[in-house]
Amino acid sequence: MINKKTILITGGAGFIGNHLVRRMVKNYPNYQIVNLDKLTYAGNLENLKDVEGYENYHFVKGDVTDEKFIVALFEQYQFDGVIHLAAESHVDRSINSPMEFIFTNIVGTVNLLNAAKKSWGDDYSDKLFYQVSTDEVYGSLGATGLFTEETPYDPRSPYSASKASADHLVRAYYHTYGLPIVISNCSNNYGPYQFPEKLIPLMINNIKHKRPLPIYGDGLYTRDWLWVEDHASAIDSVYHKGNIGETYNIGGNNEWTNIDLVHQLCKVMDELLNRPEGSAARLITFIKDRPGHDKRYAIDASKIKRELGWEPTVQIEEGLRQTAQWYLDNADWMERITSGDYRAYYAEQYG
Ligand code: NAD
Ligand code: TYD
Repeated sequence: MINKKTILITGGAGFIGNHLVRRMVKNYPNYQIVNLDKLTYAGNLENLKDVEGYENYHFVKGDVTDEKFIVALFEQYQFDGVIHLAAESHVDRSINSPMEFIFTNIVGTVNLLNAAKKSWGDDYSDKLFYQVSTDEVYGSLGATGLFTEETPYDPRSPYSASKASADHLVRAYYHTYGLPIVISNCSNNYGPYQFPEKLIPLMINNIKHKRPLPIYGDGLYTRDWLWVEDHASAIDSVYHKGNIGETYNIGGNNEWTNIDLVHQLCKVMDELLNRPEGSAARLITFIKDRPGHDKRYAIDASKIKRELGWEPTVQIEEGLRQTAQWYLDNADWMERITSGDYRAYYAEQYG
């Protein structure tokens, strides 16, 4: 018998969400995929043009913080599963205005948990609430060590604290009510369709326009980078094969200091733009550090490899080239999203 399911994906018009929605719609024609998104500055339906016409894809515009609306949505669709990505996701914005992060990331998650619990009643068979989270909940590492699933939470920015709160609540619904949940905590993603407030697309856009490349502090902060489609495939694995109540760390085994990563990107951009070697690197400008800047994130992803057979597939050199090429090929997309509000944000953040 064909396994039919109706799955709610929240935040599907955002960066990671659009890659996940595309994968689920195309790979599982027997599933109905409902994409719920508020379409904030970070959500863009243009990202999903290629799946708009699929019969098993449905878009609903709405806000996860709107309790009545969420309950009605669960009544209408009778979801079998929820993959929850909708969030305010940018650390710098969370420093400038935390409240939106509290509403969307915490209250929004609890609304979804309550609606799932109500809709599923006493019958949790074949149901799943999947919370997509970040490695930033674990805090900041020194020069050595890796985040494992047992690392205690120690969030240090309003963004990571709001994600940590949401994760705790998701686990609380598992322990208290038996709600079938799973959580994954992933490292920094990169690839097409990322909003240019985040490091890599911001640098690509600035290199293209010969603007300064703002590096916070000494640039020696370290992140573990993962190709976004590898994250989407990891979410697919966890959704289908993960054990209820468990946490899975997802990472790229791919640590770079910000300054080395930007130098690598500069090299790629000079080649793609046919500019003399060193042109982009000359734009590098060290600026005031981010308050509470986490020194290093690095993931031990051995559990998901051992238990679910998932591994990253794209190496950073190849992924950076593909990403840079995608942004150059999609100049109109970039142009549209960097007009209007983006300019005001950029002026406030970078002066
Ligand atoms: P994003 O900011 O690109 O997209 C977030 C999406 O959520 C947008 O489409 C936005 O419109 C939507 N949204 C925001 N508030 C909403 C609300 N109140 N109701 C409904 N929709 C709302 O974020 P992303 O980078 O795609 O991240 C997606 C998820 O993955 C987040 O939960 C984030 O914490 C997590 N995550 C991201 C990364 C990363 O590197 N980007 C790494 C690990 C985990
Ligand atoms: P970001 O993409 O905001 O992701 P996160 O803070 O969630 O890891 O930033 C990645 C790293 O790059 C982080 O150490 C901050 C740094 N950074 C800069 O140095 N300059 C910038 O303009 C931005 C946006 C980030």
